[in-house]
Formats: sequence, C-alpha cells, structure tokens
Amino acid sequence: MTRKLHIQYPGVIFAFALALYSFALLNLAKAETFGLDALQLQHVEQGWGDPHANQSVDGHPLFLDGKRFEHGLGTHANSILRIALGGKAERFTAAVGVDDEVGKQGSVVFKVTGDGKTLWESGVLHGGDPAKAVSVALDGVQKLVLSVGDGEDGINFDHADWADAKIVMKAGKPEAVAPVREAAVVLTPKQSPKPRINGARVFGVRPGSPFLFTVPATGERPITISAKNLPAGLQLDPQSGIITGSLAEKGTYVVTLRAQNAKGTAERALKIVCGDTVALTPPMGWNSWNCFACDVTEANVRAAADAMVASGLINHGWTYINIDDCWEAGRDADGMVLSNQKFPDMKALTDYVHSKGLKIGLYSSPGPKTCAGHEGSYKHEELDARRYGEWGFDYLKYDWCSYGGIVPNPDHDGLMKPYQIMRAALDKAPRDILFSLCQYGMGNVWEWGAQVGGNCWRTTGDISDTWSSMSGLGFGQAGHEKFAGPGHWNDPDMLVVGYVGWSAKVRPTRLTPNEQYTHISLWCLLCSPLLIGCDMTKLDDFTLNLLTNDEVLDVSQDPLGHQAARIAKDGSLEIWAKDLEDGSKAVGLFNRGEDTAKATVKWSDLGVSGQQSVRDLWRQQNLGKFADQFHTEVPRHGVVLVKVTPP
Ligand code: GLA
Repeated sequence: MTRKLHIQYPGVIFAFALALYSFALLNLAKAETFGLDALQLQHVEQGWGDPHANQSVDGHPLFLDGKRFEHGLGTHANSILRIALGGKAERFTAAVGVDDEVGKQGSVVFKVTGDGKTLWESGVLHGGDPAKAVSVALDGVQKLVLSVGDGEDGINFDHADWADAKIVMKAGKPEAVAPVREAAVVLTPKQSPKPRINGARVFGVRPGSPFLFTVPATGERPITISAKNLPAGLQLDPQSGIITGSLAEKGTYVVTLRAQNAKGTAERALKIVCGDTVALTPPMGWNSWNCFACDVTEANVRAAADAMVASGLINHGWTYINIDDCWEAGRDADGMVLSNQKFPDMKALTDYVHSKGLKIGLYSSPGPKTCAGHEGSYKHEELDARRYGEWGFDYLKYDWCSYGGIVPNPDHDGLMKPYQIMRAALDKAPRDILFSLCQYGMGNVWEWGAQVGGNCWRTTGDISDTWSSMSGLGFGQAGHEKFAGPGHWNDPDMLVVGYVGWSAKVRPTRLTPNEQYTHISLWCLLCSPLLIGCDMTKLDDFTLNLLTNDEVLDVSQDPLGHQAARIAKDGSLEIWAKDLEDGSKAVGLFNRGEDTAKATVKWSDLGVSGQQSVRDLWRQQNLGKFADQFHTEVPRHGVVLVKVTPP
C-alpha cells in the first residue's frame, strides 16, 4: 500500500515558501566580494620584481590607458597566482592590461583557469592598449589560477595589472595558495661499474694554445685511459685521463679513446679540431653567481673544483669553474687590474684548477664598472686580456653593465663595438679564452653574437629560482635556434638547481623537482651553456641525478650542435625537438600547465614517418616502437624527454 502525503493546510505551504525565500535571502546576503589585493601575495610567482597590492610592479599607482585604478594587483610576466575557492565562488571580474608605466612597450596574455580548464584568455595585449574586461562565472570551481604569459616575445617590460580584480564568494574566503611540491624522485639509473666514456665527442682548440681535455669516464675505479692516434704534441695521463700539450698545425684529428677497468673496456671516438673555433659543444661547468654572488671567495672556488672531481661530475664532462663578479680590486700604477684580498693569488688558483683537469673562467665588463660596481675593462681591454692570459684563464664573461653609461642609446654598431674590442684583445692571448657575451639580449644579440666572436651570448635578463623566471627564459628561446651552432650558443642564463641564494647563505632551489627536470632537459635541448649555479659542497642525490645523466647530457653535447625548435604547442603543452648526429631526434614533451596532462608528439611534426623507437632518456629505458606518434602523461611543470630513432 502506498501512502500519499497530503498537505492539509495552505498555511503550511506558505510557511515553507517563506522559509525557502528567507534562506535564499540569507545566502544572498552572505555573498561577499574580495579584492585580489587582500590575498597573500607571497604566493604569487613572477618572472621579475615583486607583486604589489594596489600598485604596479614598479610601485606606482595602477594605470591602464590613462585610467587610474585604486585597487588591483600589479605583477610581471610570467606570473601565476593560485587561489583556493573551495567551490564557493560565484564570479571573477577585473580589468586587465599592460601598465602605463612602460609606455607602448611590453606584451602579455592574461589567462583565467579553473580546475585545469581555460575559462578566459585575453589574447595578446600591448602597452597602451585599453584595459580589457574579464567576467567569469566560477560555480563549483575549486582552484582558480590567474596567470600572465609573455606574449611570445620575452618578458621585458611586461608589467601586467589585474586592475579592480574581485572574486565574489557565496561563502568563505578565497585563499592564495602555494603549489603542491611533488616528491623528489631520482630517475637517473645507478651508474654501471663497467667503463663508459661520456661528454663531448668533438673538441676545438687553436694552434699553439695549451691543450687541456679530461676524458670523462664513469665506471669502477681504477680506470686506465688510453688513446689511439693521439696527434704529435699531445700527451695523455692514463690515470687521470687528462690530455695536455699543444698542436702546432691546424687540422682535424680523430682519436680513439679507450677506458679500461676490471669490468671491461669502452671505446669512443673524439674528434679534435685544431682551428679558429673553441666551444664546439656548449660549455659545461660551474659559476659562482647564483650561489654566492658578491660573497664569493677563493676558498669557494677551490671547493667547487674539488667537488667537481670528488662528486664525479668531472666524469660526465663538467669542465669550467667560473668566477663571476666581485673578484676585482682597482689597478696598479701600470694600469694592470688587481684582484681583491679575497683572491690573493690568481695564478696559484688557476694552476690549482688546471691541475685537476678542469678549466677556469672569470668576469668583467666593457664599462668602467661591473654590475656590482667593481673595476671594469673600459679603456683597459688590451691590458686586461693580457692579464687574464698571464693568470691562465680559459673563459671570460663580459657583462654590459655600466657600458650603458658610456653609450646610453647604442645603435647596432654601438652594441657590437665593445665586444669586438675585447674579442680582438683576447685573440692575442697565447691561450684559448672562451668569450661569453652578457648584455641580456639587447639588439637581438643572437643575430650578431657570432659575428663579434662570441662563443655564447645571454639572450635574457637574469634567472632566478622560480618557475616563472626559469620557464619564461627557457621557453622564450623559441625561434632563436637558427642562430646557434658549434662555437656559438644562445644562453638563457645559468642553472638554478641545488643550493642557491646569491649570498654566503645558500638555500635549496625553489624549483620543484619536476621543474628542475624541465630546466635541465630544456637547457640541454637548447644547447645552452650548462653552468651549475649551486654551492658544489652541498650536492644532494637529487641534484647529482640531474647533472650526471649521460644520455640527457648527450643531447646537449651532440656534435651537430642543433638547438631545439618548438615544433608544436597545444595550450600549456609544448613539444621541442632537435636533430642528433646519429639521425635520431631528441624530443621534450613539456607541460607548462598546472595539472597533469597528456602530451603527444606527432611524427609528422617531427618530420619522420613509420615505426620509430622511443627511449626515455631520464630513465634510460626503451619504451617501444610507435607508428605515427607517441603520447604520454606529463606532470604539472614537468617533462618527458625521449629520443626518437628510426628503425
Ligand atoms: C648581471 C649578470 C649576472 C651577474 C651579475 C654580476 O646581473 O646578468 O649574471 O653576472 O651581473 O654583477
């Protein structure tokens, strides 16, 4: 028997409706509006400067196309603000644009994402454009992400305002949150006890220059190194694998290197090219700036060299130990540059580093002062190059800095001139000095860096250890690939893995483990110089795993010297690929988004067809043969780096 519910009295219906109405009213009354300026700004990540509530990134009132906004958030591309809403939000509204403080410069893309789905995108907005209104419903959204990208032309001048930005909540409060940090998983397999020869397979030297090349070999010690067809003038120490001497004549010499231990033998060809060009593969080493900045001492530099050997990094091809700014004192009566008391004996220091089979670099500026205000090389270029040669340096980073005061608005020739002067001076030194241009990409340096004799050139401003900074600089290299090649490389700045801190007090990098895999994979694909920026006495297992994967490093050191190009982009997913000498391709499947996603590389984008073997380079595992395409899950801010080889 079914029982029907009979409503006996109309009064009950009325009372019920009234209750519902009051409940709705109560809820409406509870809806509350929160400005972005009320959120915790320490959770904003951005590519430059600091975020400001109710002010631009430069600390001025917010202005978009002449209109003043009292409230909002001033940030800088690439930036991310993650906000937890608990599914209780109604709507997000704002007026967005490039702040008037940069005039007509800058170009950005604002994006609103809810639980991984793009809810709104501004398209590219330029400086001077009117503010664009955004109004997005947020029903049920748990995680809101407000991001600003760089409009595909680098992050310079990208001062981005979320003006008058508000979140309407039905209940509760929006909360800015830090990203979830995944566990640090070591992917690089343990090294085999059998011998393996690693690192560069081609090496450039000039005739008459001191030759120094350490054969990088892994495997159980002791290992004995030998070489067949070593040209006259060179000697090899079988215990250390250090090759020294000099070559009198220009020419190409193919040497067969051999590493032998109790477990077996490995052989590999090394092509020595004696000519005019050094850095035939991207330089690999360490630089003092991202860890110690101006607190660097000689003891730090010696310790870095010691650690390069003791940690085994030298066995993977890591070579240079570079002193950045803050070693300089004034000049003596003859105009010769002096090192400060933290570096009492430069010659003894270079001898020490060389004795370990490593090379050593230092830093100056074409201006009168370096960026940190120390003695620069202006009008002393010849003397300085001579001094660097006498001291025994192998690498010079030459940083624009105060030269901007000498030539405030340089034209093309004006940009090239100081580098031409120093290159000519360095060429007179009786040793090979790798020349690293640093002027942050001005005047499209990639188009003429090689012409002024640069072996590498910074294409960007300074890196910091955040996702916004690293990913903005690295992925911003799209299109620069045609300017790189053996002897001349694009440089999106040094590595920020391990313990960094720009002072004597170092701390672990703020990049997440997946972001660090992205960093190293991308820098290898880009043929960027690989300069470790961390305290080498604090190398942990995870950092070592990043820096000792020989299959990954082979992508960087491949003799063809082809820089990867971005071959496909689908929202936050990007595919970057480079040709390798053996006919295969190195491919990075990157996920710049906030959630795990499936990325696909199509053979048609790669310019190959039919069955291809795919190998995961970080895990050093074959994944099988695939026709037409390969797809895989890629974690947030992570990468899967593969090698695609024809059958
Ligand atoms: C500039 C460079 C940095 C570093 C400092 C030193 O900022 O871009 O890499 O060399 O100068 O002062």
